[in-house]
Amino acid sequence: MPLPLPKAELHLHIEGTLEPELAFALAARNGVTLPYADTEALREAYRFSDLQSFLDLYYGLMTVLRTAEDFTELADAYLARAAAQGVRHAEVFFDPQAHAVRGVPMGTVVEGLAAALDRAEERHGVSTRLIMCFLRDESAESALATLEAAKPYLDRITGVGLDSAEVGHPPSKFREVYAAADALGLRKVAHAGEEGPPAYIVEALDVLGVERIDHGLRCMEDPALVSRLVRDRVPLTLCPLSNVRLRAVDVLADHPLASMLAAGLMATVNSDDPAYFGGYVGDNFDAVRDALGVEREQLRTLARNSFEASFLEDDEERRARYLAEVEAYDFDAE
Ligand code: ADE
Ligand code: ZN
Repeated sequence: MPLPLPKAELHLHIEGTLEPELAFALAARNGVTLPYADTEALREAYRFSDLQSFLDLYYGLMTVLRTAEDFTELADAYLARAAAQGVRHAEVFFDPQAHAVRGVPMGTVVEGLAAALDRAEERHGVSTRLIMCFLRDESAESALATLEAAKPYLDRITGVGLDSAEVGHPPSKFREVYAAADALGLRKVAHAGEEGPPAYIVEALDVLGVERIDHGLRCMEDPALVSRLVRDRVPLTLCPLSNVRLRAVDVLADHPLASMLAAGLMATVNSDDPAYFGGYVGDNFDAVRDALGVEREQLRTLARNSFEASFLEDDEERRARYLAEVEAYDFDAE
């Protein structure tokens, strides 16, 4: 049973929570034929050599998601799993462009997800926010059209993010759409420094004005950048099991999380695409404790950071309550 330390999950792609069993159930329901004999054959395919090899499978499997109910079921299954691992607040990414290509409109995706998120507190004791991601390997024009399509749903969307294939698609490509999102009052995050260089992290901060960096792993190659991130308390949403599965690090023992904490970086631990990477967020906490010797008070710091970095400015009372739960958590009562 993974550590139920109260925590916020800030880096979670809802499409990356599609477990093989649900994928096959939705495929049957929607008349989609998957190129795998069964769930076991599908799991066998989860051997990734890099980010792109994962993305190819990830975009392929999401063809089973068609109706609003499919998105509701997907999100509800994630929230149940996350709650069981101590998640009290989840800021959930979704990839509307990956559904629009199949003719699934923005409204179907947002309304389907929102139906699950609306009852998450009552059903699972989890508060939620939605973050819409732009696919960085699509054009800047496509990102602008996506923001336009989201306008009727902005009451449901807290912020924007940037994901998909990183190298060759620097943050500056999306300067205009981030400025437009900012003008609409949306919060801003971006994946940077997962496979891409430290310069992409600098660009995400300086050109896009992001408030958190998703991954940010490669900041460790640039000491001046580390000093800046420490000084400005820029949250990094790290995903240790993802980094192993996508070969950003060879083995978990090589992960820089412990050095990052020692350097004073505002690190958080998250699951990214848990159905594909061998664990949900509590499993990631367990894994860094076991492989990196991250100690109890550091685990508490990671949990505290997750709530401090979350977009709860409109509900500070709730944030204070969650932070009090973190401080009161008794590791010996596990
Ligand atoms: N989309 C889903 N997971 C991702 C990741 N780890 N990096 C970039 N884009 C993603
Ligand atoms: Zn991610």
